[in-house]
Amino acid sequence: MPREASPRSYLMCPPRHFKVTYSINPWMDPAKPVDLRLALTQWEDLHDRYRALGHTVSLLDPHPDLPDMVFAANGATVIDGRVLGARFAHPERTGEAEAHLAWFRTHGYRDIREPIHVNEGEGDFAVTASYLLAGRGFRSSPLSHDEAQEFFGRPVIGLDLIDPRYYHLDTALCVLDDTADEIMYYPGAFSPGSRSVLARLFPDALVATEPDAAALGLNAVSDGLHVLLPQAASGLYEPLRERGFEPLGMDLGELLKGGGSVKCCTQELRP
Ligand code: ARG
Repeated sequence: MPREASPRSYLMCPPRHFKVTYSINPWMDPAKPVDLRLALTQWEDLHDRYRALGHTVSLLDPHPDLPDMVFAANGATVIDGRVLGARFAHPERTGEAEAHLAWFRTHGYRDIREPIHVNEGEGDFAVTASYLLAGRGFRSSPLSHDEAQEFFGRPVIGLDLIDPRYYHLDTALCVLDDTADEIMYYPGAFSPGSRSVLARLFPDALVATEPDAAALGLNAVSDGLHVLLPQAASGLYEPLRERGFEPLGMDLGELLKGGGSVKCCTQELRP
Protein backbone atom coordinates (compact mmCIF):
# COMPACT_ATOMS: atom_id res chain seq x y z
CA MET A 1 0.00 0.00 0.00
CA PRO A 2 1.44 3.38 -0.94
CA ARG A 3 1.96 5.75 1.96
CA GLU A 4 -0.14 8.86 2.16
CA ALA A 5 0.53 12.11 3.95
CA SER A 6 -2.38 13.61 5.84
CA PRO A 7 -2.49 17.34 6.59
CA ARG A 8 -1.54 18.14 10.16
CA SER A 9 -1.85 21.02 12.51
CA TYR A 10 1.19 21.86 14.61
CA LEU A 11 2.00 24.28 17.40
CA MET A 12 5.55 25.65 17.48
CA CYS A 13 7.42 28.32 19.41
CA PRO A 14 10.28 30.25 17.81
CA PRO A 15 13.57 30.02 19.76
CA ARG A 16 14.01 33.78 20.07
CA HIS A 17 15.03 33.40 23.73
CA PHE A 18 16.62 29.97 23.48
CA LYS A 19 19.73 29.43 25.57
CA VAL A 20 21.26 26.79 27.78
CA THR A 21 21.63 28.35 31.21
CA TYR A 22 20.75 25.29 33.31
CA SER A 23 21.11 21.57 32.84
CA ILE A 24 18.15 19.23 33.34
CA ASN A 25 19.22 16.54 30.89
CA PRO A 26 22.65 15.17 29.91
CA TRP A 27 22.62 17.00 26.57
CA MET A 28 22.60 20.41 28.23
CA ASP A 29 25.97 21.97 29.05
CA PRO A 30 25.68 25.65 30.04
CA ALA A 31 29.41 26.04 29.29
CA LYS A 32 28.82 25.33 25.59
CA PRO A 33 27.93 28.43 23.61
CA VAL A 34 24.70 28.50 21.61
CA ASP A 35 24.49 30.36 18.31
CA LEU A 36 21.08 31.97 18.63
CA ARG A 37 20.89 33.14 15.03
CA LEU A 38 21.73 29.69 13.77
CA ALA A 39 19.15 28.17 16.14
CA LEU A 40 16.54 30.49 14.66
CA THR A 41 17.49 29.65 11.08
CA GLN A 42 17.42 25.93 11.78
CA TRP A 43 14.04 26.23 13.48
CA GLU A 44 12.70 28.32 10.58
CA ASP A 45 13.78 25.62 8.14
CA LEU A 46 11.68 23.12 10.06
CA HIS A 47 8.74 25.50 10.28
CA ASP A 48 8.94 26.31 6.55
CA ARG A 49 9.26 22.66 5.66
CA TYR A 50 6.01 21.83 7.46
CA ARG A 51 4.26 24.63 5.60
CA ALA A 52 5.69 23.52 2.27
CA LEU A 53 4.34 20.03 2.95
CA GLY A 54 0.87 21.53 3.37
CA HIS A 55 0.64 21.46 7.16
CA THR A 56 -0.76 24.24 9.33
CA VAL A 57 1.61 25.74 11.87
CA SER A 58 0.36 27.91 14.73
CA LEU A 59 2.80 29.91 16.81
CA LEU A 60 3.19 30.41 20.50
CA ASP A 61 4.90 33.59 21.72
CA PRO A 62 8.25 32.82 23.34
CA HIS A 63 8.87 34.19 26.82
CA PRO A 64 12.30 35.69 27.65
CA ASP A 65 12.50 33.84 30.99
CA LEU A 66 11.60 30.44 29.54
CA PRO A 67 14.53 29.43 27.30
CA ASP A 68 13.22 25.88 26.74
CA MET A 69 9.90 27.06 25.36
CA VAL A 70 11.05 26.22 21.84
CA PHE A 71 10.40 22.61 22.84
CA ALA A 72 6.68 23.08 22.31
CA ALA A 73 5.91 19.35 22.32
CA ASN A 74 6.16 19.39 26.11
CA GLY A 75 3.46 21.98 26.72
CA ALA A 76 0.31 19.88 26.26
CA THR A 77 -1.20 16.81 24.62
CA VAL A 78 -4.10 17.31 22.22
CA ILE A 79 -6.23 14.41 21.03
CA ASP A 80 -9.73 14.65 19.54
CA GLY A 81 -9.54 18.39 20.13
CA ARG A 82 -9.23 17.83 23.89
CA VAL A 83 -6.31 19.40 25.69
CA LEU A 84 -4.44 17.85 28.58
CA GLY A 85 -2.16 20.57 29.89
CA ALA A 86 1.36 19.88 31.09
CA ARG A 87 2.90 20.07 34.55
CA PHE A 88 6.66 20.21 34.44
CA ALA A 89 9.04 18.22 36.62
CA HIS A 90 11.61 21.04 36.89
CA PRO A 91 10.93 24.51 38.29
CA GLU A 92 12.89 26.07 35.38
CA ARG A 93 10.10 25.04 33.00
CA THR A 94 7.02 25.39 35.24
CA GLY A 95 5.87 28.65 33.62
CA GLU A 96 5.57 27.06 30.18
CA ALA A 97 2.46 25.11 31.18
CA GLU A 98 0.43 28.29 31.75
CA ALA A 99 1.61 29.83 28.47
CA HIS A 100 0.27 26.81 26.62
CA LEU A 101 -3.02 26.76 28.54
CA ALA A 102 -3.52 30.44 27.76
CA TRP A 103 -2.93 29.78 24.06
CA PHE A 104 -5.53 27.02 23.98
CA ARG A 105 -8.06 29.12 25.88
CA THR A 106 -7.77 31.93 23.34
CA HIS A 107 -7.83 29.64 20.32
CA GLY A 108 -11.25 28.11 20.66
CA TYR A 109 -10.42 25.01 22.68
CA ARG A 110 -13.18 24.23 25.16
CA ASP A 111 -12.19 20.95 26.69
CA ILE A 112 -9.03 21.76 28.61
CA ARG A 113 -7.73 19.96 31.67
CA GLU A 114 -5.14 21.37 34.01
CA PRO A 115 -3.35 18.25 35.17
CA ILE A 116 -2.93 17.16 38.76
CA HIS A 117 0.12 15.01 38.11
CA VAL A 118 3.41 15.81 36.43
CA ASN A 119 3.33 15.16 32.69
CA GLU A 120 5.52 16.75 30.04
CA GLY A 121 3.04 16.59 27.20
CA GLU A 122 4.07 14.89 24.02
CA GLY A 123 7.56 14.53 25.41
CA ASP A 124 6.16 11.47 27.17
CA PHE A 125 2.85 10.75 25.40
CA ALA A 126 2.70 9.23 21.91
CA VAL A 127 -0.52 8.44 20.06
CA THR A 128 -0.93 5.33 17.91
CA ALA A 129 -4.18 3.99 16.44
CA SER A 130 -4.84 1.71 19.41
CA TYR A 131 -2.89 3.18 22.30
CA LEU A 132 -1.61 6.15 24.14
CA LEU A 133 2.01 5.23 24.84
CA ALA A 134 3.29 6.90 27.97
CA GLY A 135 6.87 7.25 29.19
CA ARG A 136 7.93 7.46 32.83
CA GLY A 137 11.15 7.29 34.78
CA PHE A 138 12.67 10.75 34.36
CA ARG A 139 9.93 13.32 33.90
CA SER A 140 6.24 12.40 33.73
CA SER A 141 4.82 10.82 36.85
CA PRO A 142 3.36 7.31 36.52
CA LEU A 143 0.24 8.83 38.11
CA SER A 144 -0.21 10.99 35.01
CA HIS A 145 -0.87 7.84 33.01
CA ASP A 146 -4.19 7.10 34.72
CA GLU A 147 -5.07 10.76 34.49
CA ALA A 148 -4.47 10.73 30.71
CA GLN A 149 -6.32 7.45 30.22
CA GLU A 150 -9.36 8.78 32.04
CA PHE A 151 -9.30 12.10 30.21
CA PHE A 152 -8.75 10.79 26.68
CA GLY A 153 -10.50 7.44 27.07
CA ARG A 154 -7.65 5.67 25.35
CA PRO A 155 -5.75 2.70 26.72
CA VAL A 156 -2.46 3.88 28.17
CA ILE A 157 0.61 1.70 27.90
CA GLY A 158 3.19 2.76 30.49
CA LEU A 159 6.80 2.43 29.38
CA ASP A 160 9.83 2.69 31.66
CA LEU A 161 12.73 4.80 30.42
CA ILE A 162 16.08 3.82 31.93
CA ASP A 163 18.79 5.81 30.12
CA PRO A 164 19.14 9.50 31.10
CA ARG A 165 20.06 10.46 27.52
CA TYR A 166 16.56 9.32 26.54
CA TYR A 167 14.72 11.12 29.31
CA HIS A 168 11.51 11.65 27.34
CA LEU A 169 9.62 8.98 25.41
CA ASP A 170 9.92 11.05 22.23
CA THR A 171 13.71 10.76 22.35
CA ALA A 172 13.43 6.98 22.00
CA LEU A 173 10.22 6.26 20.11
CA CYS A 174 8.36 7.78 17.17
CA VAL A 175 4.94 6.99 15.72
CA LEU A 176 5.36 6.53 11.96
CA ASP A 177 1.75 5.78 11.00
CA ASP A 178 -0.95 6.80 13.46
CA THR A 179 -3.74 5.20 11.42
CA ALA A 180 -2.07 1.93 12.30
CA ASP A 181 0.22 0.89 15.12
CA GLU A 182 3.46 1.54 13.30
CA ILE A 183 6.37 2.92 15.27
CA MET A 184 10.16 3.07 15.37
CA TYR A 185 12.06 2.91 18.64
CA TYR A 186 15.36 2.27 20.33
CA PRO A 187 15.07 -0.72 22.71
CA GLY A 188 18.13 0.27 24.76
CA ALA A 189 16.21 3.22 26.20
CA PHE A 190 13.64 0.96 27.88
CA SER A 191 13.56 -1.44 30.81
CA PRO A 192 13.58 -5.16 29.90
CA GLY A 193 9.87 -5.45 30.71
CA SER A 194 8.95 -2.44 28.60
CA ARG A 195 11.08 -3.81 25.75
CA SER A 196 9.01 -7.00 25.86
CA VAL A 197 5.79 -4.99 25.87
CA LEU A 198 6.93 -3.04 22.81
CA ALA A 199 8.02 -6.22 21.00
CA ARG A 200 4.63 -7.79 21.75
CA LEU A 201 2.50 -4.82 20.71
CA PHE A 202 4.64 -3.72 17.78
CA PRO A 203 6.26 -6.83 16.29
CA ASP A 204 6.81 -5.06 12.95
CA ALA A 205 8.37 -1.92 14.40
CA LEU A 206 11.45 -0.36 12.89
CA VAL A 207 14.11 -0.99 15.49
CA ALA A 208 16.75 1.74 15.61
CA THR A 209 20.43 1.22 16.33
CA GLU A 210 22.36 3.00 19.07
CA PRO A 211 24.17 5.49 16.76
CA ASP A 212 20.87 6.63 15.23
CA ALA A 213 19.28 6.92 18.67
CA ALA A 214 22.30 8.86 19.93
CA ALA A 215 21.84 11.32 17.04
CA LEU A 216 18.33 11.77 18.47
CA GLY A 217 16.99 10.13 15.30
CA LEU A 218 13.84 8.93 17.05
CA ASN A 219 12.90 12.52 17.82
CA ALA A 220 11.08 12.63 14.52
CA VAL A 221 7.72 13.69 13.11
CA SER A 222 5.74 11.72 10.54
CA ASP A 223 2.72 12.87 8.56
CA GLY A 224 2.12 9.37 7.28
CA LEU A 225 4.52 9.73 4.37
CA HIS A 226 7.24 12.26 5.18
CA VAL A 227 9.38 11.58 8.21
CA LEU A 228 11.26 14.67 9.37
CA LEU A 229 14.18 13.60 11.49
CA PRO A 230 17.62 14.81 12.63
CA GLN A 231 19.81 14.56 9.57
CA ALA A 232 22.69 12.85 11.39
CA ALA A 233 20.52 9.77 11.99
CA SER A 234 21.39 8.56 8.51
CA GLY A 235 21.06 4.87 9.36
CA LEU A 236 17.30 5.35 9.53
CA TYR A 237 16.89 6.70 5.98
CA GLU A 238 17.09 3.37 4.15
CA PRO A 239 14.86 1.35 6.49
CA LEU A 240 12.29 4.17 6.30
CA ARG A 241 12.43 4.20 2.49
CA GLU A 242 12.01 0.42 2.41
CA ARG A 243 8.76 0.91 4.29
CA GLY A 244 7.59 3.49 1.80
CA PHE A 245 8.32 6.59 3.88
CA GLU A 246 10.19 9.65 2.66
CA PRO A 247 12.85 10.61 5.21
CA LEU A 248 13.67 14.32 5.32
CA GLY A 249 16.84 15.07 7.29
CA MET A 250 16.78 18.35 9.23
CA ASP A 251 19.70 20.10 10.88
CA LEU A 252 18.68 21.29 14.33
CA GLY A 253 22.18 21.13 15.77
CA GLU A 254 21.84 24.22 17.94
CA LEU A 255 18.64 22.96 19.56
CA LEU A 256 20.32 19.62 20.20
CA LYS A 257 22.37 21.52 22.80
CA GLY A 258 19.12 21.78 24.77
CA GLY A 259 18.48 18.08 24.34
CA GLY A 260 15.81 18.33 21.67
CA SER A 261 15.25 18.08 17.96
CA VAL A 262 12.43 17.84 15.40
CA LYS A 263 9.71 16.30 17.55
CA CYS A 264 10.52 18.33 20.65
CA CYS A 265 9.89 21.49 18.65
CA THR A 266 6.56 20.25 17.37
CA GLN A 267 3.31 19.77 19.24
CA GLU A 268 0.60 18.10 17.18
CA LEU A 269 -2.92 19.49 17.50
CA ARG A 270 -5.10 16.47 16.75
CA PRO A 271 -8.62 17.51 15.73
N1 ARG B 1 15.80 21.16 27.60
C1 ARG B 1 14.52 20.54 27.51
C2 ARG B 1 14.30 19.69 28.73
O1 ARG B 1 15.22 19.04 29.17
C3 ARG B 1 14.42 19.72 26.27
C4 ARG B 1 13.05 19.18 26.02
C5 ARG B 1 12.98 18.33 24.81
N2 ARG B 1 11.66 18.04 24.48
C6 ARG B 1 11.17 16.84 24.16
N3 ARG B 1 9.97 16.75 23.74
N4 ARG B 1 11.89 15.76 24.36
O2 ARG B 1 13.22 19.63 29.27
